[in-house]
Amino acid sequence: MRHARAAQLRTTTAVVTVLVLAATATACGGSSSSSSAGGKGSTIGIDLPTKTSDRWIVDGNAMVKGFTAKGYKTDLRFGNNDVDTQVSQIHKMIAQGDKVLIIASIDGEALGEVLLEARDAGVKVIAYDRLILASNDVSYYASFDNFKVGQLQAEYIVDKLGLKNGNRGPFNIELFAGSPDDNNTQYFYNGSLSILQKYIDSHELVVGSGQKRLTQVNTLRWDGAIAEARTKDILSTSYGSGRIDAILSPYDGISRGVITALKHAGYGTAAKPLPVITGQDAEAASVKLILSGEQSETVYKDTRMLARVAVQMGDAILTGGKVKINDTKQYDNGNKIVPAYLLPPVSVDKTNYKQKLIDTGYLTEADLR
Ligand code: GAL
Repeated sequence: MRHARAAQLRTTTAVVTVLVLAATATACGGSSSSSSAGGKGSTIGIDLPTKTSDRWIVDGNAMVKGFTAKGYKTDLRFGNNDVDTQVSQIHKMIAQGDKVLIIASIDGEALGEVLLEARDAGVKVIAYDRLILASNDVSYYASFDNFKVGQLQAEYIVDKLGLKNGNRGPFNIELFAGSPDDNNTQYFYNGSLSILQKYIDSHELVVGSGQKRLTQVNTLRWDGAIAEARTKDILSTSYGSGRIDAILSPYDGISRGVITALKHAGYGTAAKPLPVITGQDAEAASVKLILSGEQSETVYKDTRMLARVAVQMGDAILTGGKVKINDTKQYDNGNKIVPAYLLPPVSVDKTNYKQKLIDTGYLTEADLR
């Protein structure tokens, strides 16, 4: 449906596109044909999913700082995890004349139509951390190696349970995945299963609830409260006197929800220790839980570096420079393969948090008090 509507709109707006592009070229007076109209001084629209998670605030601030230092204005907005809000914000950015849009989508498939407007206005779009799907109008993708993120989480579990060192368990594990409308979710989950599946097949890892399919384990909008409720449910229906030994969690906010439910059910004592619990984003609230021994691990993605990548891309687009990419294969958005720059994720626990998070200035000791 969505795709058909998008295709129809694309056709009806084709003529307008040609006219707008022609007008733009004239107005530019023969400036570099490879750069979008604008250049230094123009405004970059930055639209991020929500303020309820620290990371997006950090991402937003880092991009504002980076673009400002390069002589641009910025228009930073947060979509309140609501698709309509995000679409209307993007709509406004285009109408206002923002020249490049940097978007971390709430629903990866929901932006096709509004991005047709961007194209018609000659505005280039960069997908930020989350790929925008089902659209031709995404020029670049800035993210991390998302498959690797899932692998790091799973490897941590395998390592901590001693599975590689001959401890055959069996261990009980429960699996959590991210939001079904976020393209990253399947990359994280597939990355994790690429490590865990063989132990599940050999019954060294047992999913007590039996819930393994992505449709059973996903967490809409990455909402910790949903993960908390699902944990409660699993504990009461599948774990009478049994114990969970490990939780695969793809994101710190989900981990915190799971931990709340587990503690409520009596976990967190010497007799009933909390399971190995992974996470992602190195949010201060979760690093505190790592230090107190409640969460085990998180995958740190230096969002300052991601912001730097996005700023390089935006600046190059507007000045006719060369956009740096390092992947042209992995990220097919359904319409095209989007050229990407992917950064390396890093597994962090209490043994290396100082070196990775504090010494690099990502967090301060004060953030963790
Ligand atoms: C994903 C992102 C993760 C995490 C999650 C929830 O798209 O890659 O790092 O932030 O959203 O916000």
